[in-house]
Amino acid sequence: MEVTETFAGISLPGHLHTKESLHFATTFPFRDSDVLIVTYPKSGTTWMQEILTLLYSAGDVRPAKTIPNWVRAPWLEQIYFKDTLQDTAGHRLITTHLPARVLAPALQQSKAKVIYVARNPKDVAVSFYHFHRLAKFLPDPGSFDAFLLQFLEGTVQYGSWFEHVKGWLGQRQALDIFYVTYEELHQDLRGAAEHLGTFLGLPLGPETLDSLERHCSFAAMRDNAMANYSLIPCEIMDHSQGRFMRKGVVGDWRQHFSPRQNALFDRVYQREMRDAALRAPWSMA
Ligand code: A3P
Repeated sequence: MEVTETFAGISLPGHLHTKESLHFATTFPFRDSDVLIVTYPKSGTTWMQEILTLLYSAGDVRPAKTIPNWVRAPWLEQIYFKDTLQDTAGHRLITTHLPARVLAPALQQSKAKVIYVARNPKDVAVSFYHFHRLAKFLPDPGSFDAFLLQFLEGTVQYGSWFEHVKGWLGQRQALDIFYVTYEELHQDLRGAAEHLGTFLGLPLGPETLDSLERHCSFAAMRDNAMANYSLIPCEIMDHSQGRFMRKGVVGDWRQHFSPRQNALFDRVYQREMRDAALRAPWSMA
């Protein structure tokens, strides 16, 4: 199953992507009313899908409890996109992991809103490693040490974290982008949801926010079959290897990184992010 599709210099799971689906994505006619969730994998994609579902349903949990997240906010670049794309109350929620250099030209033709979620790359690397063990459409990650080197080189599936973040943030003048981090969602979910509501022009009452806080907690999402990927058959995700909703914490990298791995990561991070004007409220130490 683990067939790779190479596209614009990055590797993607061929099981989910084809040349046609990728061409379709990069030439997609966005509408001004579209709302795009953009993330590097394992940065809080599913969390943001859930948050937006609750914001647009004014806190009604029924859509989030009856429709799988990949139908509520499907992946633009995947082969299932056309079948799952939904028009919800005049807007469409769309998800993508594609880098800005391939998607921004199509997006710039519209006034679509972009929500970019970033996460401490050390935690992304750990989460991605565990996800590789679960997801049969991704290559065997080997040892954590070997995987971490590939992550730092940008040769993992979906390409370089550094390129992804810097590329999308480089679009801040050209696109209507709301930037938020996983760590900020962790620290103050309600506050982040309020800012999102303002960005999207959605009036939010306290009941909506109460419901959102309850439903989008890690515990609630871990138990929601429409968000926790337990519906995916074992041939695609080996559930005996662990859960998609794994830990949901900030700073788990400290349980995984050796001092040597940490020093290497810091060197690459400092080199790559030297000139990046990025709000990065995460601890690298
Ligand atoms: P961990 O593997 O560190 O637990 P994505 O949706 O981009 O693939 O990201 C998945 C990561 O987000 C996983 O991280 C998952 O546990 C975490 N996550 C999902 N929902 C969450 C929530 N409500 N609160 C905290 N973390 C959440």
